[in-house]
Order: sequence, then structure tokens, then C-alpha cells
Amino acid sequence: MRRYHVTTFGCQMNAHDSERIKGMLEELGLGEAPALEDADVMVINTCTIREKAESRLSAHLGLAKALKDADPGRLLAVGGCFAEVQRDRLFEQFPQIDFAFGPGSIAALGEWLTAERNDGASGSFGTGDERRFAAELPSRRERPFQGWVQISMGCNSVCSYCIVPTVRGKQMSRPAPEIVAEIERLAVDGVREITLLGQNVNSYGRDLPAAERLDFASLLRACDRTPGIERIRFTSPHPKDFRSDVIAAMAECGSVCEHAHLPAQSGSNRILKTMRRTYDRGRFLALVADMRRAIPDLAITTDLIVGFPGETDEDFEQTLSLVEEAGFDGAYTFVYSPRYDTEAASLPDQVPEEIKRERIERLIELVQRTARDRNERRIGGVEQVLVEGQSRTDSTLLRGRTRRNTTVNFAGTAGAGELVGVRVEATSSTTLRGTQVVL
Ligand code: 5AD
Ligand code: SF4
Repeated sequence: MRRYHVTTFGCQMNAHDSERIKGMLEELGLGEAPALEDADVMVINTCTIREKAESRLSAHLGLAKALKDADPGRLLAVGGCFAEVQRDRLFEQFPQIDFAFGPGSIAALGEWLTAERNDGASGSFGTGDERRFAAELPSRRERPFQGWVQISMGCNSVCSYCIVPTVRGKQMSRPAPEIVAEIERLAVDGVREITLLGQNVNSYGRDLPAAERLDFASLLRACDRTPGIERIRFTSPHPKDFRSDVIAAMAECGSVCEHAHLPAQSGSNRILKTMRRTYDRGRFLALVADMRRAIPDLAITTDLIVGFPGETDEDFEQTLSLVEEAGFDGAYTFVYSPRYDTEAASLPDQVPEEIKRERIERLIELVQRTARDRNERRIGGVEQVLVEGQSRTDSTLLRGRTRRNTTVNFAGTAGAGELVGVRVEATSSTTLRGTQVVL
């Protein structure tokens, strides 16, 4: 039996797409190889959001090349966002690649493998006639009790720093009945937690024909009605589209978790404007306040970029103060990285690397302090935890996540996939520590 190995870079959408790539390859009769070294078909699902993603990829492509040189019978397929963005230059840059495909044409990999066009004539790019939802393919889920559910692909925003709209195209929503049917199947399969995925989940449905149109709030309510699904998460919403109907649905649906990942990007109105985020600091904070009022236990995490072109010390201070005012429970922090044809890449006043470094260090320190303060408030309380397995740092402990999406390491006896109570006893900025109790 031929064996495959899939390496995944990038976001949750890529993690989802990789599960579909694996499902498709297994349907074609391939088995999974534990490591790249053992695979006949090496697949790399790539990301291009920041330069760093690409340098990690180059190293990985180097490794794949060495394996191919040693055994030319191996195949190397490269998919995802980097492949899409570089499609005209890809094979020239990396002649070791046999086949490439973009995020909207995963099925082309299966077709290429079946057609056995692997006669050494490398260098073809798979394009479907049209973009297809990866969700139409079979899936090999990483965890039996958790499932990704794709609700849309592409993005209609024009954030000036972001490559995603170029790569993944305009937003296309999946018809709601298909989404609900998939969730029902997942529930029957033993899945207890689902994460709805889209580049901008709360503009879901706007592109659907009028007769089929459902908005994100109604979609959340429809998902909430599925028996067996105990937790619903979603990522990522755009603050500009987060309306009161979605907040109400979050507050009223028992299975929608008390967590929102709400990318702010900056705390400075001037920078938000050049980023083309279409909200300002005041509107963002008002949204946070509305959400906390409706869902008192809510955890809010965010994405922040430092060193966007033209960012002054003053602008950066505004981002620091936003972190304190919003009271984020966590944040992914990024150094601005110019991307190919994006608008921001050609803006004047690019910030020197050294200043970017200083700023990110200060930001990380503040984010950690704020997150720790927020976590400390949980000490003494009992959290509902979905058990994921053994703790990564201490094999005598279990690991799981709270509804607020915080990782907990705890003493207990439960098995993976169980929902248990954990009394919180201690905390760091990113994880809680506790003991299992009867809920
Ligand atoms: N440079 C740095 N960070 C970026 N992001 C997107 N594009 C860039 C870029 N060019 C960040 C944003 C986004 C997250 C997924 O990645 O914060 O929310
Ligand atoms: Fe990376 Fe963005 Fe593509 Fe996700 S959508 S894999 S973050 S470039």
C-alpha cells in the first residue's frame, strides 16, 4: 500500500483542509505514514500570511527534496495558500515539486494521483473548473470528538495588509442545510464540539441567493438545535460585522461557548483606517462592552499587529492601552510582514525591524500580564472541561479546554472526549491548573 504524509502550516482553515486531503487520500487506498521520511506521497499544505510561514516552508521543501533525491519514486505535492500565490513561479523555484494545487481545488490532487500522471513529468498545477468547498470531500479527523465545519470560503474584506482575499478569493457561503446535515452526521459519529470556520464568519450567508439566505445568528441557532453537539465555537468574526443578533444568539444558545476571537489588529484609529478595517477604537470597545453585558462570563481573545507602515510610538501606545481597556483573555501578536501585492506593502514609512522587535516584546509582556489577571479570577471556581488527553508537560495530569477556550492541566481520571468539572487551583498566563470534581 502506498503511504502518504501531510504536513500542515497556517490557520485552522488549513488544518480543516488537511483533514480533507487525508480523507481523500485514504479513500483512494493510501495509508498514513507516521513521518515524512516514510511516505511515498508527501503533501505539504502551505501558508503565506507572513514571511515566517514561508521560511519554515522553505526548510521543509529542502527536506522533501533530499528525500526525493535519495528515492526518486517519491511524489511531492504542494497545496494551500503559498502554492496559490506562487503558482506562476512555483516549479521554477522548487523543481522538486511534482504537483501543486490551491486551497479551492484539493480534489485535483486526488484526480492527479488516480490518473497516475506521476511518470516523472513533474510540474503541473491542479485547477478545478471552479472553486470547491473542501468540506465536500471525506474527512480524516484528528480527534474523534472534535470537528471543524467549513461554513464559507474566501473573504470580501480589503484589509490592506492581508493576502488572504487574493489567495482564497471572494466569499462564498455554503448552503445552510449542507452545514446542518454535516453537523448532524458529526454528532452521530460522536463529535461533541464543533468549530464553524470561515474567513469572516459573521458575514456568512450574504452571498447566498435570497431564497436560501440565512444569516450567521440564525445559523448559530440552527447548529445549537443539533442533539449531541455540546459545544459550538466559531472563528474568525470581523468586528465590523458582529451585530447584536449574533450576540443574542451567543447568549441564548446553550451550546455556543463563552468565547469570541475578535481580531482588533490595532488600537489606533489612524492605523485602523490605513488598515481599512472600517471600525474605530471606540466602536471596537463598544462592541466588547455589549458582548460582556450580554455574556458576563465571556472570554475575548484577539489578533494584534505591530509595526504596520506609519505606526508611530503614539499609535503603538494606543494598541497597548486597547489591550488594557478591552481586557483580552489572550492575543496572537504579529510583527507586520509586507506581502506581495497587498496595498500596505507599498505604503511609505515602513517601520524598521528593530522598532518592530521592541514593540512586540512590550506588547507580549502586557498581553501575558492581562491574560494572567483574567485567569486568576477563575481560581476557586469550577469549569466545564472537554478532556483532550494527557498533559503535554506532566504525564500524570490530563489536559483539556474550558468553554472559554483556556487550556487546563488537571489531576483526574476521565478519558479523552469526556466533559468533566475541574476546580481551578492555579494559573499562568496561558493555562489553568486544577483537580477534577463531580459536576
Ligand atoms: N503581517 C502580519 N500579520 C498579519 N496578519 C495578516 N496579515 C498579516 C501581515 N501581513 C495577521 C492578522 C490576522 C492574522 C490571521 O494574521 O492579525 O488576523
Ligand atoms: Fe495562511 Fe491565511 Fe492561507 Fe490560512 S488563509 S493558510 S492563515 S495564508
